Amino acid sequence: MQRKLLEVRNLSVHFKTSEGIVQAVRDVSFDVEHGESVGIVGESGSGKSVTSLAIMQLIPNPPGSIEQGEVLFEETNLLTLPRKTIRAFRGNRIAMIFQEPMVSLNPIHTAGQQIMEPLRLHKRFSKKAAAQRVLELLELVGISAPEQRIKEYPHQLSGGMRQRVMIAMALACEPKLLIADEPTTALDVTIQAQILNLIKELQAKTHAGVMMITHNLGVVAETCDRVIVMYTGHVVEKAEVKELFQQPLHPYTRGLLQSIPQIAVPKTPLTPIQGTVPNPFQMPSGCSFHPRCPEAMEICRRETPQLVMHDNGHAVRCWQFNV
Ligand SMILES: Nc1ncnc2c1ncn2[C@@H]1O[C@H](COP(=O)(O)OP(=O)(O)OP(=O)(O)O)[C@@H](O)[C@H]1O
Ligand SMILES: [Mg+2]
Repeated sequence: MQRKLLEVRNLSVHFKTSEGIVQAVRDVSFDVEHGESVGIVGESGSGKSVTSLAIMQLIPNPPGSIEQGEVLFEETNLLTLPRKTIRAFRGNRIAMIFQEPMVSLNPIHTAGQQIMEPLRLHKRFSKKAAAQRVLELLELVGISAPEQRIKEYPHQLSGGMRQRVMIAMALACEPKLLIADEPTTALDVTIQAQILNLIKELQAKTHAGVMMITHNLGVVAETCDRVIVMYTGHVVEKAEVKELFQQPLHPYTRGLLQSIPQIAVPKTPLTPIQGTVPNPFQMPSGCSFHPRCPEAMEICRRETPQLVMHDNGHAVRCWQFNV
């Protein structure tokens, strides 16, 4: 039997700041199978990026620390590996497209040098073979005149080009797991669609698992098999994509769906979720969504519901279903 690609078990990540402790990720568990795309959605600050950084062991410590949990990549717990060993995974078997291309690209190296690096480091490509592969990769991600582009520095490239360079870097070693953190947010709609198609094509070819982090449920509907909804560091709902769109259970998920024009039930008015994400230093008691929840009950203010598994792998963290 094939080993599971990724199993995240009871992951919790905290940040100690001068204002107090931020519980950025709280007891998060999910799996990604080979060839599968799992979407992670939720408003800003829900812990999506911190979850992915924890998987890659990239949480800055201090102020951050992994309080508990396991990240099993093909049954190896990445969290207990020495830094040196984890470096052999990063950019190789596990690659990440970061939310901020300008932050993650090195301003003093050309695009070509940066894409070449993982090939030289992990795959021991000769300079000549790596240079050849870089040109192929740039063509693959739809960059025209790649011979010219490889000589350019990140500031000389447009936002769309930088994103493509990052994707080429992430795909260079044909990773088994690709973590894409808002890979298209900074791009216009046409390029967004191209990039998402590109990720899908590559996935079909290499059978990679993909974690697609986005605040856009439309992207999830188009690209993912399963979806995890996060709120204030918790998983509040997870299900197969079709199931989640047809039968969302958590009032937060229903709120997210109602605020998307293409997805909301036709003829019902678009209704954004009322209120805002709570300040991480002043987490509400009980269910952290209760101050914004139109269906909140007395118990929701007092006690935190557990994530309860229902049929078809559909799980929800809500007192309405906590029976
Ligand atoms: N280095 C840090 N120091 C302190 N707090 C942090 C740090 N990084 C993240 N956090 C906090 O952790 C929480 C989760 O942040 P995270 O970046 O994972 O959110 P996100 O879901 O990716 O949001 P977005 O959609 O805006 O990218 C937030 O409250 C954030 O302020
Ligand atoms: Mg983020």
